[in-house]
Amino acid sequence: MSNPIPFEAIPHARLPALLRTMPKAELHIHIEGSLEPELIFRLAARNGIALPYPSVEALRAAYAFTDLQSFLDIYYAGASVLIEEADFFDMAWAYFERAAADNVVHAEIFFDPQTHTARGVPMEKVIRGLHHACRRAHQELRISSKLILCFLRHLSEEDAFATLEAALPWREHFIGVGLDSSESGHPPEKFARVFARCRELGFELVAHAGEEGPASYIETALDLLQVRRIDHGVRCTESPALVERLARERVPLTVCPLSNIKLCVFPHMSRHNLPALLSAGLCVTVNSDDPAYFGGYLNQNFLALFEALPELGAREAWQLAANSFEASFVDDTVRADWRLSLDEVFRAAAQPG
Ligand code: ADE
Ligand code: ZN
Repeated sequence: MSNPIPFEAIPHARLPALLRTMPKAELHIHIEGSLEPELIFRLAARNGIALPYPSVEALRAAYAFTDLQSFLDIYYAGASVLIEEADFFDMAWAYFERAAADNVVHAEIFFDPQTHTARGVPMEKVIRGLHHACRRAHQELRISSKLILCFLRHLSEEDAFATLEAALPWREHFIGVGLDSSESGHPPEKFARVFARCRELGFELVAHAGEEGPASYIETALDLLQVRRIDHGVRCTESPALVERLARERVPLTVCPLSNIKLCVFPHMSRHNLPALLSAGLCVTVNSDDPAYFGGYLNQNFLALFEALPELGAREAWQLAANSFEASFVDDTVRADWRLSLDEVFRAAAQPG
């Protein structure tokens, strides 16, 4: 066993640089949510699509959300410029370049195929474009990645089954399935059978729960869908028994701080419950969700969080990065290597000078 990291020796002034440089994994990023307005306009021109906004600035000005649905309406409209395999590649490659700048070593990336197949885009173009970007990111940026296919919960379970069927010819290109889109009124149990099928097929399972929906949705995602991670999950604090369970079972929560502020889940970053979740012993991770819409990529999420919440220091920064590795769907040997490099960065930051 190596010596413990002397967190108290790390000067507070070094924290922002440490947050930027520490290696980390991102486990909650919707690739369609990384589509920047500039790229939306470029792809619209390339594909001959008319946009209802006259300029990049006008589109960006429309990013004032009051809740999840007000965001989703504009997010699905933005995704309508994605037509060809190259469009999916370009979108994902742009994300990977940002991730590399943020010292992300591993990304588990959500994609929403129903958003595209409903417009007549073949599943093959979606998955192949994303997969090629993942492969190139590994070769050129040294970022490993996995794709997770999300079912849109506002659509039917039958539609989810058809989507799964259509994606199975490319099953080696995605490791798991998730559940996203409008949460309230679309509880996890609506998708119990399709998740059971995905479990039989050997997929990793995750689900958005407890973002806008109640704590009970987190429980049903765990009990009925048998998911391994909960995306968001911040409303778990409404049930102390659930918080205790999440801590005991080390169920990871992929929390998205800037998203939670933009979608009014919390009124201000200083009111975010992430410090309380960490203190309760939960495996909390920090993620960007839809960075093009919510004001920042992964490091911006860390920086905004730590700036607003002075009780978060070097120890918590280390814990959040370590949690991101613990919660990743990778082999233990890979995880152990990441932990060594994380510890090295923190030991170096504790050195005088
Ligand atoms: N799809 C993209 N971002 C989402 C979020 N934050 N919640 C639910 N569905 C989403
Ligand atoms: Zn999300």
